[in-house]
Amino acid sequence: MTEPKESKNIFDEAPAFDYDEQAPLIDAEEFFKVINSRRSVRVYKDDPVPGAIMTRSLQAALLAPNSSNLQCWEFYWVKTPEKKAQLVKACLGQPAASTAPELVVAVARTKTWNWARKEMKKIFDETEKSGTKVPASARAYYEKLVPFVYCQGPLGAWGLIKKCLVWSMGWFKVIPREPTSKAQLKIWAVKTTALACENFMLAMRAQGYDTCPMEGYDSARIRRILKLPCDAVPVMVISAGKRAKGGIYGPRIRFPSENFIKEV
Ligand SMILES: Cc1cc2nc3c(=O)[nH]c(=O)nc-3n(C[C@H](O)[C@H](O)[C@H](O)COP(=O)(O)O)c2cc1C
Repeated sequence: MTEPKESKNIFDEAPAFDYDEQAPLIDAEEFFKVINSRRSVRVYKDDPVPGAIMTRSLQAALLAPNSSNLQCWEFYWVKTPEKKAQLVKACLGQPAASTAPELVVAVARTKTWNWARKEMKKIFDETEKSGTKVPASARAYYEKLVPFVYCQGPLGAWGLIKKCLVWSMGWFKVIPREPTSKAQLKIWAVKTTALACENFMLAMRAQGYDTCPMEGYDSARIRRILKLPCDAVPVMVISAGKRAKGGIYGPRIRFPSENFIKEV
């Protein structure tokens, strides 16, 4: 077995792993059928969504790429009828929520990185116990770099110090500039969580069900309903079910792609 090359920093060079993962053959047409047929559905049939479909789609959400693999997301699958009724109200009673058999609230967490890096250490320890060496650079990433980057300190004081450091060092070297504030940390966590939301919606579509992402809601009420901790950011509520006739409000509209795709 190849020993991973030791480098101080995983950005310096790729550690050599004796690991290979073959890419399976994909039916591209089926994949694009899933993308093209995902529409925001505002009115659902009463048909229930099988629990296994929801679970599989939620598990697919957790496979989304995410920053530093710190998995700073949570998905609240709201099942209790009282909570569901409260959530529909918090979603302004919009039909995309009120007619939906299932509702999921996607939440980004800005403070769970510290827990996650400790979990990562446990995984590294287990990996080494089973005889596979973990590169020192990978350990250093989670032990030193992650707290340095993601911790913002009391009242964001450490973030402010980092902002000054980054600004001055940035004149002389290429350096990641964010996150150096709680607001930037929210952007960090929301980016990752939004990717997982798309995985969930596409997984539902691939299994014959529909969804609607919603941010038309009262976030303070959602926090109260779910008893969210203060570092949690509701990202979107996603309703799910089978599309009813008239549940899609019209053909899909997109502006010409030249406005958005820039070849530089
Ligand atoms: C973050 C986000 C928030 C949205 N909020 C709502 C919403 O509150 N209510 C709603 O009916 N649709 C909502 N939508 C759906 C969009 O209106 C919809 O995606 C857009 O019109 C494009 O249509 P399509 O999804 O069918 O392609 C939201 C979509 C996103 C990504």
